[in-house]
Amino acid sequence: MMCGIIGCISGENCYEKLLSSLARLEYRGYDSAGVCLLSEEGVLRVRKKKGYVSNLAGKRLAGGAGIGHTRWATHGKPSDENAHPHLCGKFALVHNGIIENYAALKEELLAAGEVFLSETDSEVVVRLLSHAYRGDFLGAVREVCARLSGSYALAVLCSDFPGEIVAARKGSPLVAGAAKGALYVCSDVPALCGEAEFLCPVEDGEFVVLSDAVRIYDAQGRQVERAFSRVKSEQRAASVAEGTFMQSEIAQIPRALRDTLAGLEDTDFAPCARALRGAKRVWCAACGTAYHAALSFADLLAEEGFCDVFCSTSSEFRYKTPLIGEKDVFVAVSQSGETADTLEAARLAKSRGAYLIGITNVADSSLSRLVHFNIAMRAGPEIAVAATKSYNAQLVCLFYLAAQMLFFKRGAVPGWAGEMVSLPEKAEECFRTFGQMSALAAKLRAAKGMFFLGRNADLPTALEGALKVREIACLFAEGYPAGELKHGSLALVEEGFPVLALSTREALFSKTENALAEVRARGAYAVLLSQSEEVLSRSCADCKVLLPQVCAPLMPVLSVLPLQYFACRMSLLRGMDPDKPRNLAKSVTVE
Ligand code: AGP
Repeated sequence: MMCGIIGCISGENCYEKLLSSLARLEYRGYDSAGVCLLSEEGVLRVRKKKGYVSNLAGKRLAGGAGIGHTRWATHGKPSDENAHPHLCGKFALVHNGIIENYAALKEELLAAGEVFLSETDSEVVVRLLSHAYRGDFLGAVREVCARLSGSYALAVLCSDFPGEIVAARKGSPLVAGAAKGALYVCSDVPALCGEAEFLCPVEDGEFVVLSDAVRIYDAQGRQVERAFSRVKSEQRAASVAEGTFMQSEIAQIPRALRDTLAGLEDTDFAPCARALRGAKRVWCAACGTAYHAALSFADLLAEEGFCDVFCSTSSEFRYKTPLIGEKDVFVAVSQSGETADTLEAARLAKSRGAYLIGITNVADSSLSRLVHFNIAMRAGPEIAVAATKSYNAQLVCLFYLAAQMLFFKRGAVPGWAGEMVSLPEKAEECFRTFGQMSALAAKLRAAKGMFFLGRNADLPTALEGALKVREIACLFAEGYPAGELKHGSLALVEEGFPVLALSTREALFSKTENALAEVRARGAYAVLLSQSEEVLSRSCADCKVLLPQVCAPLMPVLSVLPLQYFACRMSLLRGMDPDKPRNLAKSVTVE
């Protein structure tokens, strides 16, 4: 499951702290929520409901130790019964992940006379705990975890141990936190940042005991010394300055670019110089929006003739990598640094001896700790499920990396690298298109679907524009290479069908215009985005959007901005919440 878990020990207001942490986990996407508090007398009190975290508000639940959960349904529909925490005997448990052998374990428990109250895989874990328990809380959790296959982050209460929480991690993210008078475990750094002052990552296979302090144990039960680091300012929880998080995050793009560029300037790339100089091949893997950023990077390196570059969605990577090995560089791109498919792809590349570079927005994320060299985007917390500012920041990191690679190989940075410094200001200039994009969204709000077209470097941007519209406006939208339409998809174009085309590469202006002419001849409503006034003035498009000028290789950082804003307006005009798209979660921590 892509759920969020929280555990908190607190001198006072544990219930309130749990609810506010759960509200911070909301952005990950969920369909039900719950909390359980353990009082000093050893009484477990639970409240869990289908729907929003706000449904949990009501009479305060007493207790100084508590666990909470936001559930994204996989095993069993969203319902009060399937919501976590799950209880059995002296135990209450919240779980993020998937227990792959749950069916066999459930059969065993049913045969032993257990009665299940939910359809979840997680309930088997709490029932196994109840069976395994002989007075040793941590021992029981370790014993049960040894029987689980799949992935999990667990937080557990036991009524014999008021003031204690045991947590465990394998494959699903978990971080420990501390503040004055409170200790935490949580799935997610951003969700903890408003509460905890110090953070400490929990590694796979480790167990955490929260009581008077945070204690971490390895799989063999030996206590592990682990340093806590102070929460950095860029990790602090975000707030909405305008309307929705997505609107705010689009407005923050210039700042995200400025901060990311400043961070890159301070980054010492020398440790990866040897690997980059000697790179035989470059492989990139990422998911969704991050994949589109990786595609742009691969295009740029290929255009520069760096070496063979292969780009794949992380979920397909393992089937397409017969050749990856030593002397290869593997670049993993992930805003959260916790996407399970991308982590798996990175582990595979590492096992083959490739040199791993990660690009993440979350310090201390699983990916940043897995790779040989991590490049931090400094986009700030991204709360809206739809990625916006992190995409622009990813592109900047990837293009900067490409410039470093070219420098290490050829002894000189490419000419376009010098123009990167102008990107924040140019991104601000892009805001001028928003009035036009808003009017366009109003005109197209009732459309049944739309195409986004681009050739070469504009194709990843077209794919990203389409993904944004699908994701938050719940509208069929597809991105295509402009030259591909007549090979099949043109059949869908009819009177009034919207087609949005990007044309930022001079050599391809006329070819993209040809594609627009083809769709327009079939009645399409054509929109063209370009930085060339001449191309726009000559175009047959019904709506023409002028982009700011920047050298061609950097255009993708800017040309996507009007599309991000357009998707957000479409979502709002269609009565949706762009921050919480249907069926989707921010952090996809299962394969
Ligand atoms: C983007 O709008 C999506 N929410 C999604 O495609 C996202 O980019 C993808 O799940 C990858 O996430 P990551 O960058 O955290 O790995």
